[in-house]
Amino acid sequence: MADNDVEAHYSRGDLYQAIADGLAAAGKDVDNLQPGDLDAMEHFHGRGVRATADLASSLAPSRGDEILDIGSGIGGPARYFARTYGCRVVGIDLTAEFCDVARRLNHVVGLSDKIQIEQASATNLPFDDGRFDAAYSQNVSMNIADKAAFFAEAYRVLRPGGALALSELALDDGGPVIYPTPWSSDGVHSFLLTEQQTVAGLTQAGFEVVSVQDNGPAMLQFYRAQREAVARDGAPKLGPFILMGANAKEKGRNAARNVEEGRTRPIEILCRRL
Ligand SMILES: C[S@@+](CC[C@H](N)C(=O)[O-])C[C@H]1O[C@@H](n2cnc3c(N)ncnc32)[C@H](O)[C@@H]1O
Repeated sequence: MADNDVEAHYSRGDLYQAIADGLAAAGKDVDNLQPGDLDAMEHFHGRGVRATADLASSLAPSRGDEILDIGSGIGGPARYFARTYGCRVVGIDLTAEFCDVARRLNHVVGLSDKIQIEQASATNLPFDDGRFDAAYSQNVSMNIADKAAFFAEAYRVLRPGGALALSELALDDGGPVIYPTPWSSDGVHSFLLTEQQTVAGLTQAGFEVVSVQDNGPAMLQFYRAQREAVARDGAPKLGPFILMGANAKEKGRNAARNVEEGRTRPIEILCRRL
C-alpha cells in the first residue's frame, strides 16, 4: 500500500480545530497552555504519556543530544522529550496535517526552538549519516511494509553507539487482528511482524538488540483503568480519539480487544548501532 494511502488514513483536514475544541470543552485555552495540558491527547499510542515516559527513560538523553523521532505524529512524544530532558528533537512524519499540527503546538507551548518537524518517510530519511545521538519510533512500523528500509535508514542516521528505542505491536498467536484499528481501517496498510521477526530484522540491519520488554500486562491494566474511569466519570473530552476520525470508538475498542485476546502484544525494543 502506497505512502499516500497511509497519509489519507491519518488525515482529517480539521485536526487543529478539533483539538482546540476538545481543549475548550476540557476548560483549557489552546493559546495559553500549561505544561501537561496536552498530555491526555497528544500521545497517539496505548498507555499515552506513560508509554512515552518509559521509552524516554530507556534512552535518557542528555541536554546536548539531538534525538530523532521517526513517525512523530502531532509531536506529543517530541515535546515530552524536549521538556523533560532539554534535548533537541527532530521529528519526521508522513502525514502533512500531523506535521502542521505538531509545529503549531510546538509554537503554542514555546518549544519551537527545541523541536524541528519535517514531512518525510521513515524509509527515506532526509538526513546525513551518523547525525543523531539516539532515535525512537512509537507505534509507526505497523504501517511500514519495507521494514528492511526502515531499520537500515534508522541505522544510517545514528552515530556509532547510538541507541534506537522502538514501541511496537507484535503479532501474537491469539488469532487474526480485528479491524478497524487506530492504524488501519481494514488491514490493508497494516504490516505487523512477530517479535522474533522484528528482532531478526533489526539484527540483520546491524543493530545489537539490548532488550525486549513485554508491555502486555501494563497495557491490560491501562485499558481496565480507562474503562473504569469512563464508567465513573463519563467519556473524556480529550484523548487520542480526536486524531482517529468518525469511528474512533470502534478503533479504540478493537485496539484493546486485540491485546486482551492475545492477537497483538505491545513490546518495547532497545537496540544499539554498532
Ligand atoms: C499511531 S501514529 C503514532 C504517532 C506518534 N509516534 C505517537 O506515538 O504519538 C502512527 C504515525 O506513523 C506515521 N507514519 C506511518 N508510516 C510512516 C512512514 N513510512 N514514515 C513516517 N511516518 C509514518 C503516521 O503518519 C502517524 O503519524
